[in-house]
Amino acid sequence: MNDLVVGLTGASGALYGLRLIDAILAAGRRVHVTASPAAAIVFETEVGVKLDEREMSIEAFELNRVFGERCLSSRSTQQGELVFHHHRNFMGGIASGSFQTAGMAICPCSMGTLASLAHGLSNNLIHRAADVHLKERRKLILVPRETPLGTIQLDNMRTLSAAGAIILPAMPGFYHQPKTILDLIDFVVARVCDHLGVEHQLGRRWGDD
Ligand SMILES: Cc1cc2nc3c(=O)[nH]c(=O)nc-3n(C[C@H](O)[C@H](O)[C@H](O)COP(=O)(O)O)c2cc1C
Repeated sequence: MNDLVVGLTGASGALYGLRLIDAILAAGRRVHVTASPAAAIVFETEVGVKLDEREMSIEAFELNRVFGERCLSSRSTQQGELVFHHHRNFMGGIASGSFQTAGMAICPCSMGTLASLAHGLSNNLIHRAADVHLKERRKLILVPRETPLGTIQLDNMRTLSAAGAIILPAMPGFYHQPKTILDLIDFVVARVCDHLGVEHQLGRRWGDD
């Protein structure tokens, strides 16, 4: 019941997905990760991480290289676990409602995946796992990235919100006076972690001294 699911898709913002995985592992949780072929292209383009669709380990995400001294998981006293699922493997546990999880995030979430989810297509394991989270009335956090947004995309978000998903756009705030790109990434990932129930120390909370 402690397990979480993260779907990586081909929207820009590979760092959001990597940081979310980093934070979940640092919290000592088990995370099931699945990635679309488009995600593999974007991850290589943006952060030089090569996602092998067939076989992935924690090391393959290169969290230490990408986040350097700010890497959370390599410095945590707790040890999380990463389980990778091929996007076409519908035999994976996360494809079934009988597999218990504490929630799922698609981070970043492309407009293509958003459209598939809004219409229940379940064409790959990301869509199917998300569909399962909706039908089982579990937490599903979607982190869309696109601008500007067209009417079809807005309609799809409205449909998914009405079906129970939380639409949490990659829209960082600036009131915490960010100094680095990672500060902006952490602003969004902190909100995702809050919704998933992942303990974290990703920046100060408003109202804290
Ligand atoms: C470098 C790059 C950046 C992209 N950025 C976005 C984006 O920010 N938002 C989006 O919806 N699609 C973006 N796309 C297009 C998606 O990758 C494309 O629609 C793909 O079919 C999505 O498939 P998926 O949802 O299965 O990952 C981008 C593609 C590339 C190659």
